[in-house]
Amino acid sequence: MAKLIVVNREGEEKAVEGDSGLSVMEIIRDNGFDELLALCGGCCSCATCHVFVDPAFADQLPAISEDENDLLDSSDHRNDQSRLSCQLKFSEELDGLRVTIAPED
Ligand code: FES
Repeated sequence: MAKLIVVNREGEEKAVEGDSGLSVMEIIRDNGFDELLALCGGCCSCATCHVFVDPAFADQLPAISEDENDLLDSSDHRNDQSRLSCQLKFSEELDGLRVTIAPED
């Protein structure tokens, strides 16, 4: 198990444990952060799992696919740290990853 640090929309930070192989979205959702809607269940078609990722981990994340990129473009809150958390597979290498749940669109 590796640690994932989640910052909610109120700016409160919480460290949770996550299994390798799950998506960051699944770990956030399974730990009771109901503000992360993840409406499509991880099919990369809703953008309600938008998070901002700590730039220190940018090199270790998979590249943004065209679909993810298009969906992120639909958000008013996109920035350089934006990712869809359902597209980020969690692993031991990402231990200590810090993600902030993006404001609702
Ligand atoms: S859960 Fe819908 S795009 Fe990530």
